[in-house]
Amino acid sequence: MTDKIHYRRDGDIAVLRIANPPVNALSQEVRAGLAAGMDRAEADTGVRAVLIVGDGRAFIAGADIREFGKPPQEPHLPDLCNRIEASPLIVVASLHGVSLGGGLEVALSANYRIAQPAARVGLPEVHLGLIPGAGGTQRLPRICGAKDAIGVITSGRHLGAPEALALGIIDEITENDPEEAGLLWTGSLLAEGAARRPVSELPGPAPLDWDAVYDEVLKKGRGQISPAAAVRAVQASSELPFIEGLAEERRIFNDLMQTDQRKGMIHAFFAERQVSSLPELKDVPARQVEEIGVVGGGTMGAGIATAALLAGLRVTLLETTQETAEAAGARIAGNVAGALKRGKITAEQKSRMLSEALLCDTRDAALSDADLVIEAVFEDMDIKREVFGRLDAVCKPGAVLATNTSYLDVNEIAAATSRPSDVIGLHFFSPAHVMKLLEVVVADKTADDVTATGFALGKRLGKTAVRSGVCEGFIGNRLLNTYRSAADHMVLDGASPFQIDSALQDFGFAMGPFAVSDLAGLDIAWAMRKRRAASRDPRDRVGRYADKLCEAGHFGQKTGEGFYLYEKDRRGGTANPRVIDLIEAERHDRGITPRSFTDAEIQRRYMAAMVNEGAKVLGEGIAGRPLDVDMVLIFGYGFPRYRGGPMKWADMTGLPEVLADIDRFAAEDAYFWSAAPLLRELVAQGRTFDDLNRDA
Ligand code: CAA
Repeated sequence: MTDKIHYRRDGDIAVLRIANPPVNALSQEVRAGLAAGMDRAEADTGVRAVLIVGDGRAFIAGADIREFGKPPQEPHLPDLCNRIEASPLIVVASLHGVSLGGGLEVALSANYRIAQPAARVGLPEVHLGLIPGAGGTQRLPRICGAKDAIGVITSGRHLGAPEALALGIIDEITENDPEEAGLLWTGSLLAEGAARRPVSELPGPAPLDWDAVYDEVLKKGRGQISPAAAVRAVQASSELPFIEGLAEERRIFNDLMQTDQRKGMIHAFFAERQVSSLPELKDVPARQVEEIGVVGGGTMGAGIATAALLAGLRVTLLETTQETAEAAGARIAGNVAGALKRGKITAEQKSRMLSEALLCDTRDAALSDADLVIEAVFEDMDIKREVFGRLDAVCKPGAVLATNTSYLDVNEIAAATSRPSDVIGLHFFSPAHVMKLLEVVVADKTADDVTATGFALGKRLGKTAVRSGVCEGFIGNRLLNTYRSAADHMVLDGASPFQIDSALQDFGFAMGPFAVSDLAGLDIAWAMRKRRAASRDPRDRVGRYADKLCEAGHFGQKTGEGFYLYEKDRRGGTANPRVIDLIEAERHDRGITPRSFTDAEIQRRYMAAMVNEGAKVLGEGIAGRPLDVDMVLIFGYGFPRYRGGPMKWADMTGLPEVLADIDRFAAEDAYFWSAAPLLRELVAQGRTFDDLNRDA
């Protein structure tokens, strides 16, 4: 026994209580303690059943993430699960809080399971690039059939107790304290003379069209292999005896352990937990925020207001006229109705949000009580400065004044107020009530507690908040500009936008860059190109074909034509032949003889541009850690999570190889492909971006 497992007798029932705060993770001590607890119960005269319960807030949250990457120690989890299941005693698990991954696998090795109404269960291993490795893929399908088991395992989602009951994962929902309820339930099982019921002895599930399901899951995962591999493991549960199925599960699990995808997913898992906890803010309390002001009720402002309402904050939205205020209110109501439809809120919550928590107004004075105001007006420095001057006049002392600018200089905006230490950038991504990323842009004079407030707000809104310094485009849009330019250059030199989009989707991006431009609206980048034209370095290669599309009134999805042609009510578009004509004409004018690109070369160039700019942003101190850059790209720009982010990708590809690519490309265009000094330095020292993460 270890002190992580408490043993006690209640009549003929032995209770094993797991006490490993905060979430009863399955550390070596817990595994050893559970095995010893089973031994003791079996040797304890008169004991007829074992009840396993968790202390504190959860049954078991799964494997101990602090043991990841260390050599595995005995007893191994699969052996523990088999040990529990093989007991001659009746074993009951009483679940509360979460039972995830190995936690659910322990529960599945019990004969019976009950759970509290708020309990959640799940097998999230695919999010770590793995499959359940302690019998989950063999036991779950024996309980609920192959189709539902595949749904649970390949999504990694949490199931509430009612759904778990409907699938047979638990036998009953009970209201009482987990131990009391478990004792009552186990007692009645014994009274009824109930038999042992090992899941492994149930028949395997009926077969499915495994290849079709495999292909479907692979496609849905955009190249992520672990969910598809899970399908094969479930197939084994149908086709092989239990013991052989377990061996097949182990083989697949071990193969996945060796993959870059697993390394990428584990990196993302830890980075996601680290990104918003900044050591320098550890002891800095955030300011109290209950009421938010939003200036501007366009798509972005309405999205921010919606996010705040959904998080239970009060919102005052400022617009210029009665009509625009009403339009903003309607936009927010539409967003909130969407949240109701998706089951995120109840009808009652919706009506309370819209009638009691939201005010759309046209008077600046309406913002006088707001604890934090976010400006989301037109992207123009003069307009923003004017708005901040007005905010300075009406907002209460201590209110945080935030700008949602995506490119402009936050220092200059702050200088329009008498309180620059209260000013910060909070850069949301559209649609702001859906997208997870929030860049917290810290200006020169921003006070620490204002930065802490930005992060606290991000957490409250359910966002992944990342710190950025001030530069044009901050972390995300600055990288985007660079890799987008690399894509444009490839188009000028011979690739088609459609080939580039398809190659990058194959890499795992949610969308290719040209489809993204169509979605965002081509007019936005066009306006920026025009604004920058006067100050542009003559060595900067900028394609004109997109300008030509815009000049003809084609702005992408919203006008039905861009790089792609869109039909009403049809998802996605078809390649626009006009684009090819415009590109060919431009190549002709520039005297470029087009050459062909392989998909692999497209991916290498795009990634080299992204990594190089990421290294520049790090070298300049705009991003604090490589993992910050990784999280921005994953949560804001559709970067495939299973690759861990661009800086992790670079580490896994090899920094010397990435630098060699950049130097090779520089022979064609030394201006664009100037290698980041930090990248050169790391290569010279034989270090990686992960080393920098560890140093931070
Ligand atoms: N191991 C160790 N510590 C864990 C943990 C785990 N699996 N899960 C959470 N914790 C710790 C957190 O680090 C945090 O610690 P601090 O308070 O010291 O920072 C604390 O528990 C609370 O976590 P959260 O702040 O995240 O609390 P929450 O209530 O928002 O969420 C949770 C709780 C749902 C358990 C969430 O933490 C979570 O999803 N954890 C990861 C679960 C998971 O993926 N487990 C591994 C499954 S894979 C597996 O079991 C098999 C395998 O790999 C082979």
